[in-house]
Amino acid sequence: MNNNTLDFTQEEFQDILEKTSSMILNQYQNLASQKGFNVNSQEEVERWFNEPLPLEGKNSLELLQEAQTKVLDSATGNLGLNMYAYVMSGGNQMSTIAELLASTVNQNNTKWHLAPAMTEIEKRVVKWTTEMIDYTPNAGGAMVSGGSEANLAGLTVARNIFFKKLDIKRNGLFGVKPFTIYCSTETHNCVDKSVTLLGIGTNQLRRIATKADLTIDTNILEAQIQTDLANGFMPFCIVGNAGTVNTGAIDDLTVLSEIAKKYQMWFHVDGAYGGLASSLPSLKQKYAGLEKADSIALDFHKWLYQPFEIGCVLVQDWGKMRETYFKEADYLATELQTNPNARLEFNEHYFQLSRNAKAFKVWLSVKAYGFDRIRAMIQKDIDLTHYLSKLIIESTDFELKSSSDLAVACFRYTGEKTTEDEIIDLNQKLIPALEADGRVFITGTKLNNEFVLRACIINHRKTEASIAYLLDTIRDVGSRL
Ligand SMILES: Cc1ncc(COP(=O)(O)O)c(C=O)c1O
Repeated sequence: MNNNTLDFTQEEFQDILEKTSSMILNQYQNLASQKGFNVNSQEEVERWFNEPLPLEGKNSLELLQEAQTKVLDSATGNLGLNMYAYVMSGGNQMSTIAELLASTVNQNNTKWHLAPAMTEIEKRVVKWTTEMIDYTPNAGGAMVSGGSEANLAGLTVARNIFFKKLDIKRNGLFGVKPFTIYCSTETHNCVDKSVTLLGIGTNQLRRIATKADLTIDTNILEAQIQTDLANGFMPFCIVGNAGTVNTGAIDDLTVLSEIAKKYQMWFHVDGAYGGLASSLPSLKQKYAGLEKADSIALDFHKWLYQPFEIGCVLVQDWGKMRETYFKEADYLATELQTNPNARLEFNEHYFQLSRNAKAFKVWLSVKAYGFDRIRAMIQKDIDLTHYLSKLIIESTDFELKSSSDLAVACFRYTGEKTTEDEIIDLNQKLIPALEADGRVFITGTKLNNEFVLRACIINHRKTEASIAYLLDTIRDVGSRL
């Protein structure tokens, strides 16, 4: 180690890289046997890391070995075949390499001249994204941390464009009636969080009832907008779902866009989970109206199989993003740069002033695999979900509780139980029991207030055999409860 910097000698660094390569390869060699969850108590995991601030460095190869045993070997099995909880995709190998390379050159994607290639790559990835989902090619956009932040960013633009109409910059909020925002009861809680952060307050978030298919009831929505108008509120934004987290329900985006237009409201779509499935010919029709959205939230660490974290916000044009975020500062001035007007400055279009080059992993992986292959994996996830539903319907000890166009199935294990109370009790006990078992990782949710198991299949490595293994494991653990 060179004591004047933090760098290792070239030879030392090569050894470290070789060890790292073998650790990564090892992950893939052992995929088939990777458990959904590695059972270690909280106290134990805390103990592994319980040490004072290290003042002296440790041998790097020994340190990597420590990382192997304490972190990699105990990691939740997102890569493997047995993860069904939440919305966890398995990442992809090319993006792993991209992250290593991007952090090596350590670019700050916030000003063009700080990261020329990475900025142009991010612009290109925004363009490609519009192609993937058939959105306006002129859209502006930015890579963000995930779906929650993409929704917050889209709704921030919605609010600020609305504020512009009211000239809030000069008038302030004094005398302004509450402005209201609408979404279905199935909408992700990041919309509630965004509404809170934006100072709108959840009292002004109207959660509209859904129909039997768990999509928003647009008649109730329009009636609520009219009631609010009659009561002096200012309806300003509708949030549509392009795939809900619970069941993958896709709202009628065409009708929502028409209602938004009729009442001069912003139309934002949460496509964090399902937005990219609109690229499938088999589902295209379901997403009609997506192209009318004023802003869209997408999540690339879901159905673009990117490693955490990366989401994407799209807005109809760059100008609206700049209106929302641009703030002059002497230390950021661009006038003296070469051809400043041609250079897109991400800091002027988004909140952060330091941003990593997230788009690089999308660029590298989409070029490596080709979008057709990625799209085929999305279709495979959906086909495997249909396979899971079929196995459940054909069984005598499971019952299917939702049907989805996307890759999420809600169901219950009934075993030999006959009464409703017994079945509810059994399924609630299954969650901790399956976690303690560890072979598969699955969580639950509530549909119309009823507790159900929820399997989300969003991993290009899954197979029919792994789907059958999920049910066999639930059966095995459940029958012993
Ligand atoms: C529909 C929907 N919206 C938003 C989010 C939040 O995304 P993230 O967890 O990336 O913040 C999710 C996550 O599952 C989701 O499914």
